[in-house]
Amino acid sequence: MDKIVIEGGVPLSGEITISGAKNSAIKLMAVCLLCDEPLELTNMPRLRDTRSMGELLMSLGVQVETGPGARMLLHAKDLSSTTAPYDLVRKMRASFNVLGPLLARCHKAKVSLPGGCAIGARPVDLHLDALKTLGADIELSEGYVIAEAKGGLKGADITFPFISVGATEHTMLAAVLAKGETVLNNAAREPEIIDLADCLNAMGAKITGAGRSEMRIEGVDRLHGVSYAVVPDRIEAGTYALAAATAGGSVRLLNVRSEHLGALWPLIAKAGTKVTMDENSVLVERLGTPILPVDVETQAYPGFPTDLQAQLMAMVTLANGVSIIRENIFENRFMHCPELIRMGANITVKGREAIIRGVESLKGAQVMATDLRASASLVSAGLAAKGTTEVLRVYHLDRGFENIDVKLGNCGARIKRVSE
Ligand code: EPZ
Repeated sequence: MDKIVIEGGVPLSGEITISGAKNSAIKLMAVCLLCDEPLELTNMPRLRDTRSMGELLMSLGVQVETGPGARMLLHAKDLSSTTAPYDLVRKMRASFNVLGPLLARCHKAKVSLPGGCAIGARPVDLHLDALKTLGADIELSEGYVIAEAKGGLKGADITFPFISVGATEHTMLAAVLAKGETVLNNAAREPEIIDLADCLNAMGAKITGAGRSEMRIEGVDRLHGVSYAVVPDRIEAGTYALAAATAGGSVRLLNVRSEHLGALWPLIAKAGTKVTMDENSVLVERLGTPILPVDVETQAYPGFPTDLQAQLMAMVTLANGVSIIRENIFENRFMHCPELIRMGANITVKGREAIIRGVESLKGAQVMATDLRASASLVSAGLAAKGTTEVLRVYHLDRGFENIDVKLGNCGARIKRVSE
């Protein structure tokens, strides 16, 4: 299995082009199921998760063509199956979101329940409740959701009890072809939600209010094919910004929508790193100044994203003082803490809070994590640490970061991928 080997202590210097957003791309891929014409996605990241989604779509009868470059063509002319098996869904839980589009188009589907994951139990009750409100009959049997909507789904008023990105997206994917209007209250407002709505609207859907708490979806009879560019990945951009803030140096991020990281920039600046923005790029610089402590809690967008919590923690392990980080979204998202401690960090976890007392330096070690953002935080810590860090279980990074070793290597990091 591959590992990432880093000789730390070298400030970063250079440019990094941000790829298309993983968490948007995989939902946009599911959109193809709603239409018998081809959907072309550009600015697609090449990741293990997009490959897994491609495999699942192919098993349903979708023609999937990848490349050249960051292009993917998906054509669901005729679907040969409405069953998403456990073997494919377990590889990537977001693939559960094919249930809604299959129900919308074929009026039936059998999709494996995704099961728990390393960062929490992550149930899908909100997804299923919303689909039931749209008129689906749902039965759970032997680990599968068996759903049927005789005569098709019907628009309805849905109020989510709390904000869920996945449930909001899933309901959108089902409601676009339902009869009548659907109103979503307490909807998630992430940029990925807007991206999904923009793509669906370009295909002929009638969605208004995406990016606000109340969204309206007027069902249409059919959608048509389009070419659509995936939004740049705000989490990848934030990860590299935090890597520069942690290791020091000067990194210009290209192909970034800085407004999608409104909760990050003031924190990075408060921690002593200079951030300069222009229309399409962000320059992140920490040239010899110390890292200052910051307190933060994760929240739904536009709050500070849980997907950057681990990377921010890596930065403040080296701060000049005490920081407190509170994780509000997932109940078990501090698995990077013991690994950072092995590198010399001083962290105490109490329930949903981590108290980080800054240390003067980190030391390289063999480390591993059980999810991709935690793995990215270990890479960041490794870049700043003295000596050699080996990040094992690289397949987590491959799920969500395109060519992380190459992108950081181009900025002068002494980083390589080694096959064992
Ligand atoms: C999405 O997960 C992202 N994944 C996550 O990124 C991200 O951390 C998360 O949103 C929050 O921003 C994808 O987009 C593929 P939620 P999702 O539904 O949709 C609970 C990464 O590293 N919940 O907003 O699954 C849930 O357990 C990943 O790229 C229910 O209880 O997140 C969590 O505590 C990790 N019942 C909270 O809600 C439900 O039916 C928010 O989850 C649904 C969710």
